[in-house]
Amino acid sequence: MDTEFYRMKRLPPYVIAEVNAMRHAARRAGRDIIDLGMGNPDQPPPAHVIEKLCEVAAKPDAHGYSQSKGIPGLRRAQANYYGRRFGVDLDPETEVVVTMGSKEGLASLATAITAPGDVVLAPNPSYPIHTFGFIIAGATIRSVPTTPDEHYFRSLEKAMYFTVPRPSVLVVNYPSNPTAEVVDLAFYERLVAWAKENKVWILSDLAYSELYFDGNPTPSIMQVKGAKDVAVEFTSMSKTYSMAGWRMGFAVGNRNLIAAMSRVKSYLDYGAFTPIQAAACAALNGPQDIVETNRQLYHKRRDVMVEAFGRAGWDIPPPRASMFAWAPLPPALREMGSLEFSKQLLTHADVAVAPGVGYGEEGEGYVRIAMVENEQRLRQAARNVKRYFASLGINAAAGTG
Ligand SMILES: Cc1ncc(COP(=O)(O)O)c(C=O)c1O
Repeated sequence: MDTEFYRMKRLPPYVIAEVNAMRHAARRAGRDIIDLGMGNPDQPPPAHVIEKLCEVAAKPDAHGYSQSKGIPGLRRAQANYYGRRFGVDLDPETEVVVTMGSKEGLASLATAITAPGDVVLAPNPSYPIHTFGFIIAGATIRSVPTTPDEHYFRSLEKAMYFTVPRPSVLVVNYPSNPTAEVVDLAFYERLVAWAKENKVWILSDLAYSELYFDGNPTPSIMQVKGAKDVAVEFTSMSKTYSMAGWRMGFAVGNRNLIAAMSRVKSYLDYGAFTPIQAAACAALNGPQDIVETNRQLYHKRRDVMVEAFGRAGWDIPPPRASMFAWAPLPPALREMGSLEFSKQLLTHADVAVAPGVGYGEEGEGYVRIAMVENEQRLRQAARNVKRYFASLGINAAAGTG
């Protein structure tokens, strides 16, 4: 029987899985690994949200199939969030859909709107679903940079001019995973105008909407007048409310895209477990203290990490948003490459990070550090790294050999 499955041939082994496997093995061997690899929040959701989950789960009638596009109250809660946070009006019936995490939403939309041979513009480096959601759907990826500057817009122009067939979709993700780059509203205004002129759909991933550190709230593409003509935007409860395992996210915006996605989802799923949806309503409608608490938590960790790793001889540009730092390899170890460097850090410093090359070829030369351990552990990680650098004869202050 043929086991050369079409899609499997297009899904390379997950590079990051190699480091994960080493981390598992090291832990099984009893080593205390400081895990800054995966963006998995270490905090729980607020108590009132967990209480709502339990309360609704105790009801005998809460265990049947739910609604694929989300219960109406939750779609209203998300529309209200966009109203109060961004001043954007959304119709909960036609412009909002609940997803089982934004990852599922991106994959379902990719299935709904792309066909084999379509070309999708996606950032490189990028969070894997931004490319593989479309590759699974049979589309072809043309990479564009992540840095939102003039060169970015020139790359878009070139892509439209030179690619046959013309690209039909552009994926954007700011604050970026993995690079933590941010944009302002003027960037989105220019992007929406470009998309209209070029007849390209924009898929904006706003998973880190609330994790910003410099006092400037992250904008939404939906704030641009007319954005709904060309764009949908994904948000997630995973990081904002520390609910990663709950699998709760949303897509909002263009009603044709929302309808297409809802249709695909109606064939694939029955929606998230109703008690989870009810508890998600409680999170969005209830006290928002956790949002500020999480923002401060990651902000503080960011400062500790940059300072402690800096003292260890590793200069890491402070991320302005997200829960990640995008750290260039120390100059003396650049030649090693990001995968080998990550393995060495794990082996010799008991610190797990994600190799940049796992996010695309343009990610080579970097590692992604997730701020998902407490300040004391971050300081410990920096001390371990310093010891490792010293064992190689690297001058900590200069980062040179
Ligand atoms: C940019 C980005 N988008 C989407 C996701 C997936 O989030 P969710 O848990 O909502 O599926 C992540 C998770 O790390 C992410 O970093």
